[in-house]
Amino acid sequence: MDPPPGPRLIPGLLLLLLASCPAALAWKRDEFRNCNQTPFCKRARTRAPHSLDAPLSLDAGSLYVTPDGSLTAVLSHPSRLRPLLLRLSALPPHVVRLQIDEDYSANPPPHRRFQVPDVLLSDVEARTLHLSEPKTAGAVSTLALSSDLDVVVKHDPFELTVRRAGSGDPVLSFNSHGLFDFEPLQESKPEGETWEEHFRSHTDTRPRGPQSITFDVSFHGADFVYGLPEHGSTSLALRPTRGPGVEESEPYRLFNLDVFEYLHESPFGLYGSIPFMIAHGDGASSGFFWLNAAEMQIDVLAPGWDGATSTENGRIDTLWMAEAGVVDAFFFVGSEPKDVIKQYISVTGKPSMPQQFAVAYHQCRWNYRDEEDVAGVDSGFDEHDIPYDVLWLDIEHTDGKRYFTWDHSAFPNPEEMQRKISDKGRKMVTIVDPHIKRDSSFHLHEEATAKGYYVKDAGGKDFDGWCWPGASSYPDMLNPEIREWWVDKFSYQSYKGSTPMLYIWNDMNEPSVFNGPEVTMPRDAIHYGDVEHRELHNAYGYYFHMATADGLLKRGEGKDRPFVLSRAFFAGSQRYGAVWTGDNSADWDHLKSSIPMVLTLGLTGMTFSGADVGGFFGNPEPDLLVRWYQVGAFYPFFRGHAHHDTKRREPWLFGERRTALMREAIHMRYSLLPYYYTLFREASLTGVPVMRPLWLEFPDDKETYNNGEAFMVGPSLLAQGIYEDGQKSVSVYLPGKELWYDLRDGSPYKGSVSHKLEVAEDSIPSFQRAGTIVPRKDRFRRSSTQMVDDPYTLVIALNSSSAAEGELYVDDGKSYDFEQGAFIHRRFVFADNKSKEGYC
Ligand code: GLC
Repeated sequence: MDPPPGPRLIPGLLLLLLASCPAALAWKRDEFRNCNQTPFCKRARTRAPHSLDAPLSLDAGSLYVTPDGSLTAVLSHPSRLRPLLLRLSALPPHVVRLQIDEDYSANPPPHRRFQVPDVLLSDVEARTLHLSEPKTAGAVSTLALSSDLDVVVKHDPFELTVRRAGSGDPVLSFNSHGLFDFEPLQESKPEGETWEEHFRSHTDTRPRGPQSITFDVSFHGADFVYGLPEHGSTSLALRPTRGPGVEESEPYRLFNLDVFEYLHESPFGLYGSIPFMIAHGDGASSGFFWLNAAEMQIDVLAPGWDGATSTENGRIDTLWMAEAGVVDAFFFVGSEPKDVIKQYISVTGKPSMPQQFAVAYHQCRWNYRDEEDVAGVDSGFDEHDIPYDVLWLDIEHTDGKRYFTWDHSAFPNPEEMQRKISDKGRKMVTIVDPHIKRDSSFHLHEEATAKGYYVKDAGGKDFDGWCWPGASSYPDMLNPEIREWWVDKFSYQSYKGSTPMLYIWNDMNEPSVFNGPEVTMPRDAIHYGDVEHRELHNAYGYYFHMATADGLLKRGEGKDRPFVLSRAFFAGSQRYGAVWTGDNSADWDHLKSSIPMVLTLGLTGMTFSGADVGGFFGNPEPDLLVRWYQVGAFYPFFRGHAHHDTKRREPWLFGERRTALMREAIHMRYSLLPYYYTLFREASLTGVPVMRPLWLEFPDDKETYNNGEAFMVGPSLLAQGIYEDGQKSVSVYLPGKELWYDLRDGSPYKGSVSHKLEVAEDSIPSFQRAGTIVPRKDRFRRSSTQMVDDPYTLVIALNSSSAAEGELYVDDGKSYDFEQGAFIHRRFVFADNKSKEGYC
C-alpha cells in the first residue's frame, strides 16, 4: 500500500506541523497533475490549428436522414483505423445535438467507448425533431432546423456551424480551427509501445491505450464565457487560459478531486464537474454541453492565440479535451441567457424542489461530540434568539466511521435525541460517505463483499483504498442493482436509530481515496459493464448522490422530499439535491470567491448550493465570521460548518454585539424564506437559479457582465458582498433604469449608476428593485416550521410608473402533493394605486 494516509488522519501531528511551518497550510500542487503531466492534454494542447496531416472529412455520399428523423454521416480519415459515425439531431427549441463515435463494424476493438447513461432525461430521444433532408451545394450541406435556426456542415475539413437562419450570423461552431481529433481504440498494443503512465508513485496501466478526443468550439457574438464548475475563482467570467497576455497557462480542469486546502483562485479541478459553458454578449447568448464523464481540460483562448492578427469581433474560441468517451455534445441558442439555462435543463433535468426546512439555516461542525453537545447547541440557539432548522452530525457520530451506525457511548439514544430536536420543528442530518470500512464484522462490508458489489482494481480484486475508516472499498454505483441495494440501506429497519426527521449528507464521493493517485481512485479500476474508472470518474459522485436521494424517497414511501447534500457532482446532479463548495478556508479571499463559485453552480443547473459559512479550515477573525453570515444568509444553501481543529464558533461566542449582528443576518434570511421558497419553485420549473449574476436579469447591460462581487436573489433583490477586513466604503453598481431601495432603511438609489457607499456594520449593501413585490414573514421564530401559520408581509417597491409586481408560492413544504395541484402560486400586481392578485 502507498504511504500517506494524509495529514487529516493524524490531527494532533497536523497541528504541530502547522505551528512550525506555515507553508504546510498551502495547497499541495505536486499532488495533482497539470496539463503537461497529463499526456493527452499535452498532446492536444500543443497541436497547432489545422495541423493534422489529413483532417477528418465528411463523406457527402453518406449523408442520410434516418427514419427517426436525425441526420447521420460518416467522417473519414485516410490513416484512421475506423471511420467515425456522426449523428446530428435537434430538440425544440434551439437545441442541436452532435454525437460522434467510432464505427465498430470494421476492426472491432475489445472494448467500446463509454457513453454516460442516466444523465440525460429519458424522453430526450422522444422529443427529437424530425429533420428534413439537408441541401447540399458543393462541399457544404445546410440543414434547416426552424424558421430562425440552421446548421451548416462543411465537408472537408469537417466543420459545423449553428447559425441564425435569417441573418446567417454564426452562433456556435465546431472545428472551425481544425483541432478535432479522435484517437481510435486499438485492437491491441503495438509492439514496442508502452501505454502505461506514471504519476508520483502511481502507475496507470492504461490497458486500453490512448482514446482521447479534442475539438474546438467557437462562441460567436460573445463578450464572456461562464460555467464549467468547479474551480476556485474570484472572477465570474472564465478568464482566458492561453494566448497573448495569459501568464499562468493551465486549462480549466474538470476532474472531481478532494483538494486539501484548495486555492481560491485556480483553474485546477475541485470536487465536481459540469462540462457546460454559457456565452453571453450584447444581444446573444449560447451554450455548449459535452456529456462526457472522463477527465476533461478546457482552454479559453485569448484573441490572437492562433497567431491571427485580427479576430472576428466578439468571438471566443475554446478548446475541449477529454481523456476518453465519445462526442455527445449539445449546442444551445438563446435570445437571452435564461433561454440557454432552460435548454440545458431540458436535457439534464430540473432541480428538485427542496423541503421548506432545507432552505432555512443549517448548523454543522466536525463534530458535535455527543448528545449533550447536541442539546447544548440546540438550546443555545433558543437562548440567543437565533433561529435554525437543522443540526448536523459529521463522521465522528458513527461507530468507527462505519456509516449507518452510531457511536453508542456518545450517542446512546439517537432516536430520543432526534425526537427532542424535532419537537421544536427542527431536523437533523447525518453523514454517509461511499467508502465502506473493510471490517469483516461490519455487516455492510460483509454483504457488499459477498454480493461482489465493490469497484474492482485493475487486477480484478475488490478495490482497497484508504479513507476515514482506514482500509475501505467503494460500492459500484454505476450498477443499477447496487444502487437498489443502497437505496434499502436507508429504510428505518436497516438504518437503526434513524427517524423520519433525519436527512443525509454525502461526502468524499469524488471518490476521495487518500492513498490513490491525486487522492482518488486509480483510473484503471473497473466498474460494472467493464467500464474503466477513467471513463466514469466525474460521474461517480453523481450516482452515489442519486442512490442516496432515491433511498430517502423510498424510505418516505415517495411522499417525503429527500434532502441530500453532496460534495461531488456532475451534470444532472440538480435532480438529487444540494451541493456545497467543499473545504474552503476562513479567509477573506475564500469569502470573495464563494460568490462567483455559487453563481457558476447556479448557471449550470446546481441552484441549491452554498459555501461553508465561516470557512472550513482555520479560525475566522470575528469580523470575517460576521461578514460571512451576512453574505451567506443570501446563499441558496446556508450552512455554518468548521473543521474539528478549529475553535467553536456558534454565533453567540463572540460577544454581544457580534451575536446581534449574526442574529440579524439569520433573521433576515428567515424573513425572506417565502421569497426564497418561491424562487426555488421557479428554479424547479425552469432551472433559472435562485441566486443570479446581474447579467441574467440585465442581459443588455455590459457593466454587469463580469461582476462577480454583487449578485441578484431572484429578479427583485441585489446584494453586494464585503470582502475586505475593515472596509470603509464600497462601490456598488445598480443596473437598470429604475430606482433601488436600501433593504435596511428604504433609501432610494438611482439605477445605471455606481454608488460609492459607506460600509455599514449591520449588513452588507442590499437593495430591492423598484417595480417589485417581495413576500416576507417578519415574525421571529425558532425554526421555519414554526412560521407556517404566520402572516405574510408584502414589500412593495413602486417603480417610476407607480407600479410593482411579484409572486408567492406556497405548498405544504414537505410532500409531493404540489404535483397534484396542492399549492398556491399567486401573482401580485400593484398599479393605479391598487393591488391586484391573480394566479401564476
Ligand atoms: C471533508 C468534508 C468536510 C467534513 C470532513 C469530515 O473534509 O469536506 O465538510 O467535515 O470531510 O467528514
